Amino acid sequence: MQDRSQGRAFAPEDFDFEALYQGKAPMDGVKLDRAPWDIGEPQPAVVALEEGGQLCSEILDAGCGLGEHAIFLAERGYRVTGFDAAPSAIAQARERAAARDVDVDFVLADATRLAELEQRFTTVLDSALYHCLGDQQRTDYAAALYRVTSRAPNCTCSASPTLPRLACGCPTKSVRTTCAPIWERTGISAISGSRAT
Ligand SMILES: C[S@@+](CC[C@H](N)C(=O)[O-])C[C@H]1O[C@@H](n2cnc3c(N)ncnc32)[C@H](O)[C@@H]1O
Repeated sequence: MQDRSQGRAFAPEDFDFEALYQGKAPMDGVKLDRAPWDIGEPQPAVVALEEGGQLCSEILDAGCGLGEHAIFLAERGYRVTGFDAAPSAIAQARERAAARDVDVDFVLADATRLAELEQRFTTVLDSALYHCLGDQQRTDYAAALYRVTSRAPNCTCSASPTLPRLACGCPTKSVRTTCAPIWERTGISAISGSRAT
């Protein structure tokens, strides 16, 4: 990744999401007063996927952050599990779901293992997680998704973002290469969309 505001490159692994969700600096020299991807409502690309009939239960919201997408989808009647590796994100997502009286299962889990999850998901929504991972992490993430997704034909969606500060554009070719084994098995498709920040 590259911090365009500073004009220097850094590895995705250097970014401390937990610190950011605690209101602290996520890495040296980067000041953010909030998670820039949290716009207090679902991303338009995700709303469009839902309204286009692209999603089906059970949905796994990968790297769910503060839970807006999982909550939105649960409100629309889907069964949803959201996972994230940042404990403070999961805690805040649970608080948001409780405040809106919505039933979502929020789980603390690392995308590269997903040891806490069983094989049952028919849709994986990846809104801005994949590009946060390093090369080996992406491969491990694809293998973990393979394990937890159902064998029935399904769809998986990657709302690939463009976050100005983190320079997170993610080449479709990379997603295709890494995720090909899952797609072959499940009929998954990748859907990219721009997102608001
Ligand atoms: C750019 S944010 C996107 C959050 C949310 N999906 C959204 O669209 O608002 C990326 C999220 O991925 C999470 N994350 C990063 N690496 C992870 C990993 N290895 N396992 C699980 N979550 C991870 C971060 O904690 C963060 O919440």
